[in-house]
Amino acid sequence: MIKNNKYKILTPTTLVIFGATGDLVRRKLAAALFNLYCKGFMPDVFQIIGFSRRDYTDKQFRNFLIKEAINNMDLKYSEEDLTGFLNKIIYQKGFFGDINAYKNIRHKLNENGNVLNMCANKLYYLAVPPNFYMEILNNLSVSGLTMSCSDESGWTRILIEKPFGRDIDTAINLDDILAKLFKEEQIYRIDHYLAKDTIRNIIFFRFSNVIFEPLWNSRFIEKVEIKLLEKEDVENRGSYYDSVGALRDVGQNHVLQMLALVAMECPENLSAGSIRKKRAEVFNSIVPINTKNSAKQFAVRGQYEGYRDIKGVGKDSNTETYFKIKSFLKNSRWKNVPFYMESGKALKEKRIEIVIYFREASKLICPDSYKNNYYRNIFTIKIYPEEGIFIRFWIKKQGLLQELEYRDFIFSYNKGMEIKAGEYEKVLLDCFSGDQTLFTSTEEIKHTWRFITPVLNNWNGNELYTYKKGSAGPGVSI
Ligand code: BG6
Repeated sequence: MIKNNKYKILTPTTLVIFGATGDLVRRKLAAALFNLYCKGFMPDVFQIIGFSRRDYTDKQFRNFLIKEAINNMDLKYSEEDLTGFLNKIIYQKGFFGDINAYKNIRHKLNENGNVLNMCANKLYYLAVPPNFYMEILNNLSVSGLTMSCSDESGWTRILIEKPFGRDIDTAINLDDILAKLFKEEQIYRIDHYLAKDTIRNIIFFRFSNVIFEPLWNSRFIEKVEIKLLEKEDVENRGSYYDSVGALRDVGQNHVLQMLALVAMECPENLSAGSIRKKRAEVFNSIVPINTKNSAKQFAVRGQYEGYRDIKGVGKDSNTETYFKIKSFLKNSRWKNVPFYMESGKALKEKRIEIVIYFREASKLICPDSYKNNYYRNIFTIKIYPEEGIFIRFWIKKQGLLQELEYRDFIFSYNKGMEIKAGEYEKVLLDCFSGDQTLFTSTEEIKHTWRFITPVLNNWNGNELYTYKKGSAGPGVSI
């Protein structure tokens, strides 16, 4: 274990995870916490309380974490690290609506002597389906767990998973409830895409290389495509997924956030406030799709064959597992430049990328069309499976003739860069250290839902195209 790193939180900290035996803990959270511990980034003194319905003892919960999460990790660790980490973990059985379970948490906090008591930092992680948020928030408040014991004592923060609401009204409602219990500085709304290294790189790359920014506008850019294409189907998440659909699941958050980072203006500085403000301005400038006609013209929805047979999915479900939306921004930088957002499940491959197509190059040098397409530069931000930036340039072919061919200039995080950080490690670390840059603000939530809600309300009249599993999607152009 590395000790004494400069990000170390010195105040004792308790993390309570609601939904501690769920999917997110197994797939991401347990590994992220253990990794942070092994790398020396966990607070100096900490405790993790897993809260869930299962009838586990502390020991059984620790074994569950080893078997379901830690054993599957691709990390070399020592027995000492494992024992040290597991010793910090305790379990609280309870239903989210059972106030006594919350009282037990309070009791557990107090029973740990003077170090990890109510005056420690307290972080509540809601790793549960959104329909439990209200109940948990209410009970946290009623049982006094949201209070600090004095102004000087440790902070209380809340980490909330997406989707944050299911439309503009429910999002505002949830926000109002949160605002009664917490100040905005205490609320961490997760969008794990913002914490991916390749996505964090976008603004650094754009604003620290002077050769790109002058071209980053409608004069030189013809269109932008944002793709979050997945090979996996809905798997065992049928009932959750059927109640949300692709647009709420990844469109309102991950896809729009990628769009914001590509389109935003340069922030005044790198503070959370400046960056979140610039992202919110982009969301606020998206031209609404708020009539049946515009929904037909600018949006496509699809569902893969076999989706309705998945456990938890309605037999006549009309939930989309695929969407493609063509959107525009009302500002001078991006006037008339279409931003295509596309995402789907059960497609032929998992590919996440942002492709920026520059306009046609000078006719003087490139007189003929190139394989039915332009001679143009293409700037691709690759997020998965490659991680990096590919830029297509034109060069003279070697030899006696004056012919052109393209070459990709490639920067790849995959090659030779070993210091990878998992997104959830970053989410947790930033929350521990109080940096809200990679979390969505109230303003962002409102603007994104203001765009998405009318699409959801108006695209019901659109045909729901079916597509084959493993295909490229419905293949309908807009
Ligand atoms: C989640 C969605 O937020 O993001 C999932 O709920 C989706 O449906 C996932 O599969 C994609 O994230 P990643 O990091 O695996 O690309």
